Amino acid sequence: PTNHLRHVESMKTLLSGAGNISILNAVILGEALASEENDLVFPSEKFSVQAHVPSPEKYLEMYRRSIEDPAGFWADIASEFYWKQKWSEQIYYENLDIRKGNIKIEWFKDGITNISYNCLDRHVEAGNGDKIAIYWEGNEPGFDGTLTYTQLLHQVCQLANYLKDIGVRKGDAVVVYLPMLMELPITMLACARIGAVHSVVFAGFSAESLAQRIMDCKPNVVITCNAVKRGSKTIYLKDIVDASLKESSQNGVFVDVCLTYENQSAMKREDTKWLDRRDIWWQDVVPQYPTTCAVEWVDAEDPLFLLYTSGSTGKPKGVLHTTGGYMVYTATTFNYAFDYKPSDVYWCTADCGWITGHSYVTYGPMLNGATVLVYEGAPNYPDPGRCWDIVDKYKVSIFYTAPTLVRALMRDGDQYVTRYSRKSLRVLGSVGEPINPSAWRWFFNLVGDSRCPISDTWWQTETGGFMITPLPGAWPQKPGSTTFPFFGVQPVIVDEKGVELEGECSGYLCVKSSWPGAFRTLYGDHERYETAYFKPFPGYYFSGDGCSRDKNGYHWLTGRVDDVINVSGHRIGTAEVESALVLHPQCAEAAVVGVEHEVKGQGIYAFVTLVDGVPYSEELRKSLIAIVRNQIGAFAAPDKIHWAPGLPKTRSGKIMRRILRKIASSQLDEFGDTSTLADPNVVDQLIDLADS
Ligand code: PRX
Repeated sequence: PTNHLRHVESMKTLLSGAGNISILNAVILGEALASEENDLVFPSEKFSVQAHVPSPEKYLEMYRRSIEDPAGFWADIASEFYWKQKWSEQIYYENLDIRKGNIKIEWFKDGITNISYNCLDRHVEAGNGDKIAIYWEGNEPGFDGTLTYTQLLHQVCQLANYLKDIGVRKGDAVVVYLPMLMELPITMLACARIGAVHSVVFAGFSAESLAQRIMDCKPNVVITCNAVKRGSKTIYLKDIVDASLKESSQNGVFVDVCLTYENQSAMKREDTKWLDRRDIWWQDVVPQYPTTCAVEWVDAEDPLFLLYTSGSTGKPKGVLHTTGGYMVYTATTFNYAFDYKPSDVYWCTADCGWITGHSYVTYGPMLNGATVLVYEGAPNYPDPGRCWDIVDKYKVSIFYTAPTLVRALMRDGDQYVTRYSRKSLRVLGSVGEPINPSAWRWFFNLVGDSRCPISDTWWQTETGGFMITPLPGAWPQKPGSTTFPFFGVQPVIVDEKGVELEGECSGYLCVKSSWPGAFRTLYGDHERYETAYFKPFPGYYFSGDGCSRDKNGYHWLTGRVDDVINVSGHRIGTAEVESALVLHPQCAEAAVVGVEHEVKGQGIYAFVTLVDGVPYSEELRKSLIAIVRNQIGAFAAPDKIHWAPGLPKTRSGKIMRRILRKIASSQLDEFGDTSTLADPNVVDQLIDLADS
């Protein structure tokens, strides 16, 4: 058996010894338990018996098959979808070993399908057209809407027809810059319906970042709205799009049409700046089109979407996902990791601008015919009880969010939670960064009333769907551990030489063999794809994360090991922030590191060297932060600017970030070896300036 199968065996031994009822009761009562062995949170019997995977044995049986017979395992699942033409004999092809040639991953090759059809038409044809597809809750309480699957299909078809009419064809990129309106999933599904490749840009990115993405994928159409309210703030999205289109056209990339949704609750059309030859109101054109639209059948390996994410250089990477494998994988992971049942009401707080919103607001749930809640506003508006108000209002049963929100709400006080019933909740989920055990326990004990398993799902933009995740009901949880791999996934932990570690260990998290939801390339840069992910540890996909595995085989993610930081679950390259800072005329050099932050997980800590003779000032500090907001977006604004007369460098000029991280986190006695520094005095200068 594989390494992991052996771990599962050891988990079984653990369980047989620990299945005693007193531990179970103690955990459910939330008592502090002393020994590590007791630090297990068991699913209730009531939950387990109804779960898709009710026991470790069942998991083990399914997992074993998924590894030993991937073709049979995935073919059975894929057969539940509609394929215009079945995939060829060989269900997948992969080369993940750079030493054997170019990296290539294919699943369901020659299969012909359409994901929008599988998300919509399939359910309507099965008689579920009247089921609610989307509950939409606006920023202001009391402002809401719904769409059934039939209504959603009609709206998707109208937009698809419009896009076809203005010349969007299979394979064309469409850039989408929308907030969490129903129109966002509608747009994604409309693009998919006609085989166009959507590239959704999170509507918190700046004009500069949007322009960069537009120039990379060169769409003819950009879809946006005039403005949105988040909390008490109004954000003028159309102005941001205007600025980005100006910039991209100055660089030779011209967008013909800017389709703009009039979001009346935030801004009237009369107040919106307009360019007649390019801008078109969604409401003026889309509703005039027919509510049926023939599907463009695509190959399983045709691109579905592009989503830019941060890497270790300043240039964002265009992660490319294709159709068939992504479809099967997101649907299956959603179904099992949340123990989805047709009666569930599901709410994922992520924005569709990130991968979580792609896979687990739109595609995964809708492929399962689920009722999805889409929330436009801020989770703490008008007060920190809003989430639970929404949970009660819609009887949400599956609630999936990020640790940063859990920590923020935890700080705001229990009274905002206990004021609401939350009786409908069944399963909770966490994603984006490691969840610290105390936040885990608060989420479990208070929000879920010690009743709801937490699926702490580890995955990435690149992986398309969950990779290491609990299956609620299958086995006990350890707060803060993402537990075990999903079906078909073979995680390995390697040392710095790339040697696979066995048993209890700690190292770099890699994956052996492909899984259907894996990304296939970086748009326009297959070489960077190979270099960034497959060269560091030949033979494996390298995740960029550190991970340890305990003696029971549970996985514990320890954070990024590359120059990427994770701020409130948002992935930010330190190099991106540095490139933004050095654009400031008075900034000579910048080095950015992540530092622990109570709510955000990590905060952004920037060391800045000014041009000779420029004095430090509060005003300058503000303008440095402003330049990052303008270049990337408000979410990337540094939490701290640390003036640096010089940076600690080796004699060959390499910045020693290890030392900067120690200074940033005030661990001043733990610098380790500083003998390779070109100028050791630099460190003392930095310490002296720490509080200035
Ligand atoms: O460091 C890991 C962290 O988020 C990174 C992926 O970020 P992104 O591509 O933006 O996708 C976020 C949503 C999937 C990973 O490399 N991460 C994600 N989920 C977890 C996590 N770290 C610990 N535990 C998790 N559950």
